[in-house]
Formats: sequence, C-alpha cells, structure tokens
Amino acid sequence: MSQTDTKTIPVWDIFIRVFHWTLVLGVSTAAVSGFLLRPTWISLHVWAGTSAAVLLLARLLWGIWGSKNARFAGFIKGPREVIKHLKELRAGTAARHLGHNPLGALMIVALLGTVFLLLLTGATALGGVFKTGPLGFLFSYDLGTTILRVHYVLAIILVLLVTLHILGAVFEGMRTKENLVKAMITGKKEARESDHDLPEVSSRPLWVTLVFGATLALLVWGGIWFSAKPPFGVPTGPMNPTYAEECSACHIAYAPSLLPAKNWGTLMSQLDNHFGEDASLDQKSVDEITTWLFANAADSVDTKPAHVFSRTNPTYPVAITETPFWKNTHRTIPDAVFTRAPIYDNGNCNACHKDAESGAFYPANISIPKETPQ
Ligand code: HEC
Ligand code: HEC
Repeated sequence: MSQTDTKTIPVWDIFIRVFHWTLVLGVSTAAVSGFLLRPTWISLHVWAGTSAAVLLLARLLWGIWGSKNARFAGFIKGPREVIKHLKELRAGTAARHLGHNPLGALMIVALLGTVFLLLLTGATALGGVFKTGPLGFLFSYDLGTTILRVHYVLAIILVLLVTLHILGAVFEGMRTKENLVKAMITGKKEARESDHDLPEVSSRPLWVTLVFGATLALLVWGGIWFSAKPPFGVPTGPMNPTYAEECSACHIAYAPSLLPAKNWGTLMSQLDNHFGEDASLDQKSVDEITTWLFANAADSVDTKPAHVFSRTNPTYPVAITETPFWKNTHRTIPDAVFTRAPIYDNGNCNACHKDAESGAFYPANISIPKETPQ
C-alpha cells in the first residue's frame, strides 16, 4: 500500500461505510420502485425495504457496540450543543469534526428514524392491503390503506431529508476543505494540526460479527420466506365443485370475493339471460352455488379486490370488468391486447394474473403473456 505524503487518520470503520452505501442503494431502489415504477414492481420495492430493515437493525447494534464514531452515545448531542455549533458556524469559528458534527448527528437520527417509520408503515400497509409480508395476518385493509398514505408522506419527507443531508455534506466539505464523500468511501480523513480527541476505529470482537451475520441471514431468509408464502388473509379454501363445474364452462371460475353477495344474488337470479347467453341451471345447483357465493362474497373477505370491486357499476351490476376500479386500472392496456391469443377476453383474468383463482391479485403476480400464434 502506497501512502501519500499527507498523513491520514481512520474515521469511519468498514461497517459504517458498507452500511452507508448499501443503504443509499436500498433507499434509492425503494424510491424509484415506489414513486416511478408500475405496481407490478412491488417485489423489488419490498425487497429493497427488507434490505433496509436488515441494515437498520445491524446499524442499531453497531450504534451500541460498534467503533467510537459509530456509537450513538458518542455522537448524538443535545440541543445545547447543536445551538452552540450553529452559533460557531455563524461566527466562522466552528471546528472540524472527525466524526459527525452536532448538526450532522441530528440529521443521522432524522434519517434513520424516518427509514424506521417507513419500514413500519410499509410492512403495515403491505400486510393490510395485500395480506402479505411479516404483518400480513394482523391488519385490516382499511387500516392498510390509511397507513399507506402515511407511508407516502414519509417517503417524501425522506427525499427532502436526503437532499438536505447531501447539501449539508457539500457545505461542510467546502467549509473544512475536505472531500467528505471520499472519506465515506476510504474511511479516512487527512490528519491536521488542530485534531484532538482522535477516534478509535478498531474492529470489534468476532462474536459481534457473527451475531450480525446470523441476524442478516435470518432476516433475508425471513423476507424471502414471507414473500414466497401465499398471502395470509386471502381465502384459499376449496372451490365449490358444482360452481367450478357449471360456472367455468364459458369463462374462468371467478373468485367469489370479487363481487358483493347482493350482486351475486342478481346474477344467479338471471341465469337465463346471462350476458346474452342462457346459463340456466337446475334449482338445486342454483341454490347450492348461491349459498356458497354468499358465504365467500366480497362482504366477508378483506382483500384489496374485494374492497375495490365492491363499488360496482349500477348499469352493469354483475360485471367485474365494468366496475370503475377495473376500468381505471386497466385503461393503459390497449383493447387489442385483450382480444389477442392467448387472452381473448378482458374477463380472462388468469391469463395475466397468476393468482386470479384465489382472488388475491397481488401486483407481483401480474404478467401480460406474449402473443401466441392462433
Ligand atoms: C353459456 C356460457 C356461460 C356460462 C355457463 C356461465 N357464464 Fe358467466 N359469462 C358468460 C359470458 C358470455 C359473459 C360475458 C363475458 C364478457 O363479456 O367478457 C359472462 C360473464 C360473467 C361474469 C362477469 C365477468 C366480467 O367480465 O366482469 C361473471 C361474474 C359471470 N359470468 C359469472 C358466472 C357464474 C357465477 C356462472 C355460473 C352460474 C356463469 N357465469 C356461467 C357466459 C357464461
Ligand atoms: C391483459 C392482461 C390482464 C387481464 C386479462 C386482466 N388484468 Fe388485471 N391487471 C393487469 C395489469 C397489467 C395490471 C397492473 C396495471 C398497472 O400497472 O397499474 C392489472 C391490475 C389489476 C388489479 C390491481 C392490482 C393492484 O393491487 O395493483 C386488479 C385487482 C386486477 N387487475 C383485477 C383483474 C380482474 C378481476 C381481471 C379479470 C376480470 C383482470 N384483472 C384481467 C392485466 C390484466
């Protein structure tokens, strides 16, 4: 290793540096997938959130047991210190800090705190709205959608904080004439005469590393396990055999949770004129199917489709594809896509939604099939 003439001192340990840049990557991925990409990218968003959760947990542990500049007790300062630092900045007498300055420390707390709240609200929204993720079994759809709004506001706050943090680093870098981005990569700052209170950045004992490693592995594994599981609150009970047989002759057997009981009642009472077709059945089958549809209708299920399709179109009360939500969500798909092979019809949900049968319609399970020769 060749060293330049200027003497350097270690300020950021390897953990802090890896943490910093992987969090940048995780938060950027979450922001891009959350703000800019279609909902079908939700898996990437959840994965970015999961990695941020892993990083945050490790950072909390490192904030207790890590090296000197990483420890919260070392760098978090009270309001008095912050005000003093601000006054010194105005007077031009503020010293250079090898670790975080009091204002920077405040920003670290704000950033980590906002990321934590984003993770909490994200998992709550994911659980409430889509019945998946670590909190998939806990919250209602209504709570999930409310929390999703909070999640969105927090995301905007985080973008603002990150912008301020970057501006702060640029300002501090210019003020103290050093490249702070480089310091966060190499972990070193140039040694100066005025330096006092030299930090100790020795690495920690092996067991700390092992605990980190195990926690990380567990969380990553947990994230994968949870996202691979069928959503918890989604009905996966068996199809009624009569329904499956009689109502899938001309189209897919629609999940009963896609329409409210009242609308199923209307549909079942007009089978002789069913979208211009005669789909009449014997009374026994009608009764059996109606009872089963009622028991599993949108009114008794807490999934997103059950909620959004409950607002039916009064003109076509029994058509899912005529509901305002359906029309709005699918408006960007050209009509020609719906009529081509192998889709043929907009009511053929499972051509594009792999989990149509369960009624879950999780966005990660959407993929529009390529056109196949007829
Ligand atoms: C003889 C053929 C036939 C049978 C049997 C049949 N359907 Fe249909 N169904 C249709 C047609 C045709 C449409 C209209 C499809 C379209 O316009 O995309 C339709 C549409 C629907 C829709 C609305 C789908 C959408 O696009 O929003 C529902 C819900 C539905 N059927 C339920 C049932 C149920 C429940 C049964 C069993 C009792 C049943 N169907 C049996 C022919 C049939
Ligand atoms: C041609 C493929 C295709 C067909 C057929 C189709 N969808 Fe979709 N659906 C999509 C796509 C693509 C999206 C995502 C739209 C977007 O980017 O916002 C979507 C979104 C949805 C969503 C919202 C998912 C979410 O929470 O973000 C629901 C619910 C849904 N579809 C239900 C249905 C139902 C019910 C049917 C059948 C009656 C159906 N879709 C038929 C392609 C399809």
